[in-house]
Amino acid sequence: MSFVKFNDDNQIINFVRDHSDLFSCHSELAVEEISDGNLNYVYRVSDASGNSLIVKQAPPYIRIIGDDWPLTQDRIRIEQQSLQLTAQHCPQVVPEVYHYDSEHCVILMQDIGDHDNLRQLLIDRTELPLLAQQLGNYLAQMMFRSSSMAMESTAHKALVKTSQNPELCKISEEVYFWDPFCDHERNDVNPLLKDEAQSVWNNSELKCEVAKLKRRFMSDTEAMIHGDLHSGSVFATTDSCKIIDPEFSFCGPIGFDIGVLFANFLLNYAGQQNLPGDRCERMTYQGWLLQTLSDIWQQFSTHFASLMQTETLDPSLSEPGYQQWYLQQIWQDSLGYAGVEMTRRTIGIAHVADIMNIEDPELRADSERLSLQIANMLILQRNTLSTPKQLDDAINQLRT
Ligand SMILES: Nc1ncnc2c1ncn2[C@@H]1O[C@H](COP(=O)(O)OP(=O)(O)OP(=O)(O)O)[C@@H](O)[C@H]1O
Ligand SMILES: [Mg+2]
Repeated sequence: MSFVKFNDDNQIINFVRDHSDLFSCHSELAVEEISDGNLNYVYRVSDASGNSLIVKQAPPYIRIIGDDWPLTQDRIRIEQQSLQLTAQHCPQVVPEVYHYDSEHCVILMQDIGDHDNLRQLLIDRTELPLLAQQLGNYLAQMMFRSSSMAMESTAHKALVKTSQNPELCKISEEVYFWDPFCDHERNDVNPLLKDEAQSVWNNSELKCEVAKLKRRFMSDTEAMIHGDLHSGSVFATTDSCKIIDPEFSFCGPIGFDIGVLFANFLLNYAGQQNLPGDRCERMTYQGWLLQTLSDIWQQFSTHFASLMQTETLDPSLSEPGYQQWYLQQIWQDSLGYAGVEMTRRTIGIAHVADIMNIEDPELRADSERLSLQIANMLILQRNTLSTPKQLDDAINQLRT
């Protein structure tokens, strides 16, 4: 790929005019850089009548570091492939892709700026009554449709091949499964949490379970997953939900996406223990978070089970007993990966605002401690916590 980074607003505007017909040729266009992540350049291009689109460009390095940390630009191909596949099976949850340009490593897509970031909505304790249903349906549709239950074996293997994403998977293999479980220099540990971090690093039983989860992450090609489904990748209004940024997508374990999503509700739960605001309101919201996690699972499992029963192509995968076992397996995987995500967001490299917004270091450490306790329980007890109700009870017991 030959790569030319946009150097000024005019280059972006010319590119947009050449590759989309959203704007009239006489309108004056404005460009605003809105990159708030780490990896890519993101711009909003708009006119005075309220039309706008998003330009996302992947440089051959990590944006916030520069040339010193090269990174494959194939990530933008993966991202558009995932957005397009999701648009086929669940169009309402992704921004529409208007254009993909492999030479410039650019996606032009729908502006979903009328939606708010889910992480901020959770920090603000916003209740979203339709969110669980929307997320559960999305997960069931995407996971089933991109699995070998819904695809012919050869077509599924072709998808596994075209969605191979080794460089970004390697980052995940390190930041989820390696760094947080040893005293790694990349870790960022609150000094008040040193003893708890040390106990994680010394816990052989825990590390053995994490190794099992990592092996599955590295070798299981169940379905095409998003790969980075934290609450910062989800945007919502009261009646709509959109999912962006699937550049870490690949064919991997279904429970990884569900687990990362669960973890981000539970990280917020741990944060609500000490975030500013009325205590009663925070506790009520913790109840909403657990209920929403349970509802996501309920929606996912009901929809996924129905798809398995009615649309599985391979008769040898259609046995009801197997299908029941399989759903239970996904539940257990989800809890395990949720525990891994919570650990890495608490003592690893990338912390979350749900907890970092707690200014007092003692109170922050209290939330971090709760997060680590929940994480340990999820990883070690994932085979015995068989239902969302058992999970809720176990989490509520840790809080008191
Ligand atoms: N389609 C869109 N509509 C509106 N805003 C968007 C859209 N896509 C991205 N953004 C905005 O740009 C920001 C950065 O986008 P994105 O997360 O895709 O970038 P990234 O560089 O891949 O981030 P990261 O380093 O976290 O992977 C988002 O947080 C969001 O605010
Ligand atoms: Mg990204």
